[in-house]
Amino acid sequence: MSGSAITPWVVGNWKMNPMRADAKQLVQELKQLLQNQNIEESKCHIGVAPVALALETVQTQFSDCSRAVSIFAQDLSRVAGTGAYTGEISAELLKDSKIEYVLIGHSERREIFGDSPAVINEKIKNALNAGLTVIYCVGESLAQRENGQAEHTVLQQICDIAAVVQSEQWSNIIMAYEPIWAIGTGKTASPEDAQAMHAKIREGLSQITPAGKGIAILYGGSVKPENAVELAACPDINGALVGGASLNAEAFYQIAQAFANTK
Ligand code: 13P
Repeated sequence: MSGSAITPWVVGNWKMNPMRADAKQLVQELKQLLQNQNIEESKCHIGVAPVALALETVQTQFSDCSRAVSIFAQDLSRVAGTGAYTGEISAELLKDSKIEYVLIGHSERREIFGDSPAVINEKIKNALNAGLTVIYCVGESLAQRENGQAEHTVLQQICDIAAVVQSEQWSNIIMAYEPIWAIGTGKTASPEDAQAMHAKIREGLSQITPAGKGIAILYGGSVKPENAVELAACPDINGALVGGASLNAEAFYQIAQAFANTK
């Protein structure tokens, strides 16, 4: 399977947004856009990652949508199962609530909340063992890019999880390359730079697992309708993880449409 034969994913990471009323309106608008002009499921998977508090509500709101919209948790506990762990949500609790997808390793978790590679590995292991599908986020800082360490950093982040992903579990991994300097800054990696890194990621994954050729690699960092077509045209960019623009239904819909039409 070549990179471009992979059905793309466009996933909105809502981060610590929005308030309840705005979330409800956002879902309604997105459902309406999809009903007016559907994006075929075979052409693009669509997902959203609301705050933990809203996961089940948003899931219910999308239950009568004209097509599937997958619901992603933004994070989960490093601890599995149930027990005396105040404030935590485990992989099993997500699964029990029919939340089948989760983001792990986002740079905001790594940088602001101190998620180390060891913690991330525990989260990945728990998620996969509970049967969840993971978007695993990798990406270099501006300093690492300027020092010529971008590729090394990203490949190391992939090698980190290889220790805990069983061979048959790679089919439940989706990758997201999110250069930290492009997140929320309005600066996007050029399609050439993004494609070059995605090709390296694909090469790295293929060395680790035969499943590597079929793993979707999403790009994240200031994706918007204005740059989505160019990014979608790159052979190893199999979708987008969208932050800011996913809080606008029309913009998010247009990004999904760009990937559905270009791939
Ligand atoms: P922005 O699209 O706001 O740059 O955020 C990207 C991101 O972090 C998605 O996970």
